Amino acid sequence: MTAEIIDGKAFAAKVRAQVAAHVAVIRESHGVIPGLAVVLVGEDPASQVYVRAKGKQTVEVGMNSYEHKLDADTSEADLLALIKRLNGDADVHGILVQLPLPGHLNEDLVISSIDPAKDVDGFHISNVGLLGTGQKSMVPCTPLGCLMMLRDHHGSLSGMDAVIIGRSNIVGKPMAQLLLGDSCMVTIAHSRTRDLPDVVRRADIVVAAVGRPEMVPGDWIKPGATVVDVGINRIDAPEKGEGKTRLVGDVDFASVVQVAGAITPVPGGVGPMTIACLLANTLTACCRAGGMPEPEGLTV
Ligand code: GUN
Repeated sequence: MTAEIIDGKAFAAKVRAQVAAHVAVIRESHGVIPGLAVVLVGEDPASQVYVRAKGKQTVEVGMNSYEHKLDADTSEADLLALIKRLNGDADVHGILVQLPLPGHLNEDLVISSIDPAKDVDGFHISNVGLLGTGQKSMVPCTPLGCLMMLRDHHGSLSGMDAVIIGRSNIVGKPMAQLLLGDSCMVTIAHSRTRDLPDVVRRADIVVAAVGRPEMVPGDWIKPGATVVDVGINRIDAPEKGEGKTRLVGDVDFASVVQVAGAITPVPGGVGPMTIACLLANTLTACCRAGGMPEPEGLTV
C-alpha cells in the first residue's frame, strides 16, 4: 500500500482564497481592512525568509502588512514600547513577534505584553488557558493547520488514538489540546518516553514535531495510520552536488509512505498551512474586534 499524499500547498491555497473572499466582504460592508504587524528582531536568515513570505501573502489576500525590522541589539524596553504602540493601534488587528528572539530578550515577557486579542500566534498565556479549557481563543497556527488537514481527511476524529511526538509550547502542547477537543485519545511522547516505537505503533494519527531529521521510520507506523510531519529540517544533499542541501521532515518519508494511509509531505504539507492559518487568525481577530461575523471553518 502507498499512502495518500495530503497536499498542504493546495489546501493552503484554498484557505487563502476563503480568507481573501471574507476580507473583501468586510471591506465592502464595514470599510475595515485587517492589518497584521510582524516584528523581526535581528537578522536570522530563516526568520527573514518566513517574515518575507508572511508579508507577501498578507498583501495577496487583501490585508495590510506592517513590518517592523529591529536591530539585533534592540533593548527589551524598546521592543516592549513598540508592542505597546501596536496594541493601541486600531489599524493593527494581529501582532506577531518572530521567534526565536536574540538571547538578551525575555520571550515570555515579550509574548505576555501582546494584547491577547491581537495575539495571532496564540502564544499568550490567556489564549493558552482559553484553548486548554475549550473556550474561544486565538489558536497557534501550525497545530491549527494540522487539525484542518486531519478534519478534512477524516471528517470526525472522535475516538481516534493520536500520538504527538514533541512537547513544545508552539506545536506539541496546543496540538494535544486541539485533538482532545475533537475527542481523540491523546498521548504526548517526548525524549524521555520509554519504548517510543511501540507507543507510536498503536496510533491512528501520528504528529511528528521534534525537529530531528527523518527520525520516524516506517516500521513505527501502524498500517493505514495518518502521519502529519511538522518537521522542517535542512540536511546535506551530496547527491545533488557539492554543498547542496534539501529539506526533510521528522518522518522518513520513503519508508513511511509504504505503510501509512495518508501522509503530509515536506515540503508542501504543514508548512504552507501555517502561514495560511496566520492569515485566517488575523481575519478572525479583526472580525472579533469589530463585532463582525467570523469566517466559517477557519478557526476551531
Ligand atoms: N518561529 C518559528 N515558528 C514561529 C511561529 O509560528 N510564530 C512565531 N512568532 N515565530 C516562529
